[in-house]
Amino acid sequence: MQQAIAILDSGVGGLTVAKEVMRQLPQEKIIYFGDTARTPYGPRGAEEVARFTHQIVDYLLQFGPKMIVIACNTATAVALEEIRARVPIPVIGVIHPGARAAIKTTRNQMVGVIGTEGTIRSHAYEQALRQIAPQIEVVSRACPSLVPLVEKGEFRTEHTRHVVEESLRELRLIPMDCLILGCTHYPFLTEVIGEVMGPEVTLISSAEETAREISTILYHKGLLASTGTMPVHQFFCSGDPRMFKSIAQTWLNEQIKVTPVVWRVP
Ligand code: SIN
Repeated sequence: MQQAIAILDSGVGGLTVAKEVMRQLPQEKIIYFGDTARTPYGPRGAEEVARFTHQIVDYLLQFGPKMIVIACNTATAVALEEIRARVPIPVIGVIHPGARAAIKTTRNQMVGVIGTEGTIRSHAYEQALRQIAPQIEVVSRACPSLVPLVEKGEFRTEHTRHVVEESLRELRLIPMDCLILGCTHYPFLTEVIGEVMGPEVTLISSAEETAREISTILYHKGLLASTGTMPVHQFFCSGDPRMFKSIAQTWLNEQIKVTPVVWRVP
């Protein structure tokens, strides 16, 4: 049986990474888990998010994946190192890839970061950016209202526009030339965020860079798929599968089957 890349997120956000993996690595099979019953993770405490992340990783390990991708910034910020330390396969998050993409993009060395309260509170992006490029000035803002909009599938409504304008009001006054979408849900709102921030600000999604990192790691470990056939991906979610399926099919532009998972431990 083909070994898969396991991707997890608090909900639909990690589909932005899954889509990019499908584009860059079309022969790779994906097993995706969205914890839609407990989304959003952003307002939760670090200990709780770490516990949820360990639980999902344990669930995914039963499929014998060749790699785990924590496609949730909040979970990456609090649990990546712990998971790496206990799991015998490569585990990657989305914060370092996003930071690297911003460093490649910025010209004026002023970078904005938006994310959940948990991600912003962790200062994980500042640390990742400054570790590589200490000269970069970083301005961060938590945007807690955006994930619930995405989980409801409200990508382009008047209400969404209003919430995005309010969330980015202060950031618009800062002369940054790129803005990291430090939550995997935010690329669903790229159009509206782009309109609000204006054309001089490049939006950075970690999805592309994360997929590139996956590709590099699998290549170096001799684990790239070479079946010659198109893989059948598997999707799991812990909440109502109908909304998840509807968003996923639109975003991925393909028909999928979603298996609901009921947690025994809340
Ligand atoms: C959330 O569940 O609050 C967002 C996931 C993320 O941080 O990417």
